[in-house]
Amino acid sequence: MSHTYKEERTERTKWFLEDRFGMFIHWGLYAIPARGEWVRSVEQISIEDYQVYFDQFNPARYDPRAWAKAAKAAGMKYAVLTAKHHDGFCLFDSKLTDYKSTNTQAGRDLVREFVEAFRAEGLKVGLYYSLIDWYHPNFPAYGDRIHPMRENEAYKRDPSKFGAYLDYMHGQVRELLTDYGKLDIMWFDFSYGDLKGEAWRANELMEMIRSLQPHIIVDNRLEASGEEGGSIYKKDPSFFSGDFASPEQIIPPSGLTDEDGNPIPWEACITLNNNWGYASSDHSYKSARTVIRKLVECVSKNGNLLLNVGPDATGVIPQQSLEILEEVGQWLRLNGESIYGCGQADLPKPDWGRYTRRGDKLYAHLFEESIGPVNLAELAGRIKQARLLSDGSEIFISRPWNAVMYPNDAFINLARPEHFSYPLPDDRNTVVELTLN
Ligand code: GLC
Repeated sequence: MSHTYKEERTERTKWFLEDRFGMFIHWGLYAIPARGEWVRSVEQISIEDYQVYFDQFNPARYDPRAWAKAAKAAGMKYAVLTAKHHDGFCLFDSKLTDYKSTNTQAGRDLVREFVEAFRAEGLKVGLYYSLIDWYHPNFPAYGDRIHPMRENEAYKRDPSKFGAYLDYMHGQVRELLTDYGKLDIMWFDFSYGDLKGEAWRANELMEMIRSLQPHIIVDNRLEASGEEGGSIYKKDPSFFSGDFASPEQIIPPSGLTDEDGNPIPWEACITLNNNWGYASSDHSYKSARTVIRKLVECVSKNGNLLLNVGPDATGVIPQQSLEILEEVGQWLRLNGESIYGCGQADLPKPDWGRYTRRGDKLYAHLFEESIGPVNLAELAGRIKQARLLSDGSEIFISRPWNAVMYPNDAFINLARPEHFSYPLPDDRNTVVELTLN
């Protein structure tokens, strides 16, 4: 890929690397069985047996403005909603299918209401679109790796008709990029086996995307995953390799770069419990403390966090999710300067937590207390001023008698006398803003 492609990618993703924190929303018919969004595949449910959920779908409490306010209060800057997941159900009024929310009892274009509500709250909007479609008659079924009817010979499909599915898929992407105003993210999911790259007619698809909404950023899942082909990790990524990598349910141990070691934009997508779609029995929620620390970890490695909620069949985000988001938002209201617009500090990870950096501001995220003064390894003489970010109060820079043996290091402490040990004002994460010389 030409050098300009990477320059264009850098330009397109500027806002993304500033915003750092987004909401992922997985919602659809699968909220009724409430066993996660893969329920059709896992339980090999036929379309006929899944139809009951289409017939019943009536999210009377769907209030996208409330969702948007919760995301904004959580400190999230953008949101991505599933417009169509693997089950093929469309949350938008597509002219290319009857399998859509406007034909259910809901009678609403859920995507349109989502983009309007989140824009009204000042958030950027993205749409997730599944390349996989377990409803479409021309999508591979019998013998496929994951299709609900993969073991049912009656669903042997004629491969020559896959092009008809691609026409449908490209047509729907065109609808989303034409009929819903300015979108900020197109989030495709996912390539597997031979279904990758040009098997999706990805060049043609990306040409269309770039012509309809040139500013939009696209994830990397049109391409083969990992090191294959022209993935975003290669020195010469393909035209459809996307603008950001999308590690899932993991935070890359040391950030993400291409094979030349150049940082690439990335966003870790992570569930609040262990399911993307609503799962009523899944109460394994991450604490707000964990979310705060993992957001810091992503930013400390030049990445974003896309944190998922799975609204229930009535259209409501689960209360456990809302409570976690509210607490994260409280922390961000006091400490957001150490997240937004920040990135890697190019310093070794300290024992007590992590660093993030923006220009001459270095943020020390103290996850655990120190005995005596807090050690800033190798930073002797580099720190001009230190303040507790949450309240602006003075933090003391000195090397008291119990630290004199470390001349290359700087030390700070939260109070005086400075050789004492002090509890952290916020044991989830206390942020000290260091101004560098
Ligand atoms: C995986 C799952 C899919 C989910 C996606 C989110 O691809 O199959 O259900 O939407 O992860 O990244």
